[in-house]
Amino acid sequence: MSNHASSAAHDMQAGTDLAIQGEEYDAPAPSKARPIPRISIQAFCEDPRTAEALQAATADRRLAKSHVSVHMGGAPAAVAHYLESPTPNLIIVETTLPKAQMLTELDRLAESCDSGTKVVVIGHVNDVLLYRELVRRGVSEYLIAPIGAMQFIEALSGLYNDPATDPVGNIIAFIGAKGGVGSSTVCHNAAWCMSELLKSNVVVADLDLAFGTTGLDFNQDPVQGIAEALQSPERLDEVLLDRLLTKCSERLSIFAAPVVLDRDYDISAEACDTVLDIVRQNVPFVAVDLPHTWTPWVKRVLLQADEIVITAVPDLANLRNAKNLVDLLKQSRNNDGPPHLVINMAKTPKRPEISVKEFASALEIVPMQVIEFDSETFGLAANNGQMIEEHSAKAKAAQQFRELALALAHRREPKEEKKPSALAPILEKLRLKR
Ligand SMILES: Nc1ncnc2c1ncn2[C@@H]1O[C@H](COP(=O)(O)OP(=O)(O)OP(=O)(O)O)[C@@H](O)[C@H]1O
Ligand SMILES: [Mg+2]
Repeated sequence: MSNHASSAAHDMQAGTDLAIQGEEYDAPAPSKARPIPRISIQAFCEDPRTAEALQAATADRRLAKSHVSVHMGGAPAAVAHYLESPTPNLIIVETTLPKAQMLTELDRLAESCDSGTKVVVIGHVNDVLLYRELVRRGVSEYLIAPIGAMQFIEALSGLYNDPATDPVGNIIAFIGAKGGVGSSTVCHNAAWCMSELLKSNVVVADLDLAFGTTGLDFNQDPVQGIAEALQSPERLDEVLLDRLLTKCSERLSIFAAPVVLDRDYDISAEACDTVLDIVRQNVPFVAVDLPHTWTPWVKRVLLQADEIVITAVPDLANLRNAKNLVDLLKQSRNNDGPPHLVINMAKTPKRPEISVKEFASALEIVPMQVIEFDSETFGLAANNGQMIEEHSAKAKAAQQFRELALALAHRREPKEEKKPSALAPILEKLRLKR
């Protein structure tokens, strides 16, 4: 590693010394909270700390679509307000009133509530009888103060996402810290392993519209569906989606890029949002293969994703770009874990590189995987349109992609059944003799 690289890595090292060697990657499972739909929410708080928590929640990606306003004054302010204004989709009322008075205020509030408006009460007493009384009166949820931003988001998610009727998939976005670092390769292999190991449906959405390699990598001549969906997202439904996807295996489908250069691709962040939302309503895992570009829609996909994987080659430019990405994501997604890091093409012959330990320390992220440069395996697999596992299940990278897939899905590898020892038949005989 050059002096320059070394000092840059060092500068960025914020006093942490991550013990990378031998450390097992074990990311905490993210919150199960799901995005809240486009609803209007008005809150009337009594305690400034509650107002602060709700305000913090409004900055979260899961509330990006809803309109939230936070007022003070508790139940009396809410009652006064709705005497004159129509009620929103959801009213949140914090109250420290004694039980009888609380119920009277809520009854008054109910008089001006439009049908379809839900009410959530934040109270300061843990009382089952009160809870039952509130539910009997049609209150959707009773939360006990003090509440944190994430607890509030989870409660809303529970109200608006019914796990029985709304299958909502996880969006995993893959981006390279630079072009050509293997981000698409990592995305496709991880997605494929996920579909095989978890026996779960996975869609790879190729958002590299002009140069995407998903069709090539899976040896398909796909319907180039994603541009059509992005052009008129309002037309996309389950039936059209089915037509636009190309099935690669029993459980893996690709939403392929057109890969032609005679048209302009003006993708809007909203169109991207809508399309990915519809895909995630239909499959449990959506792997989004992002190009290495920086546009409003790329940023939006990253900020909204459930998991993010940054693939980087261990050199200085990758480190700088990855650091910028990580900083932005940590800052804008403060209720989520940091993005995941995959270091790729490590130990490329004759290339000086930043050590994994230094790279990880500078980013303050333990890499999920460190994949070595292996031109033969990767080159042959790519040329044959195969995944690494299909091409060579014994390759080190094949095992690494399996581990990556499980880690991204927050699952552990199923324990292999113990092979019987070579001595087993003899031991068995001895036991019979006894
Ligand atoms: N660990 C590796 N060892 C050797 N070759 C690799 C490795 N990982 C990826 N490659 C090869 O590097 C090339 C670029 O990979 P890929 O297209 O996945 O990168 P990308 O980051 O998606 O690029 P782009 O910026 O064009 O989207 C491919 O030919 C791939 O087979
Ligand atoms: Mg790519």
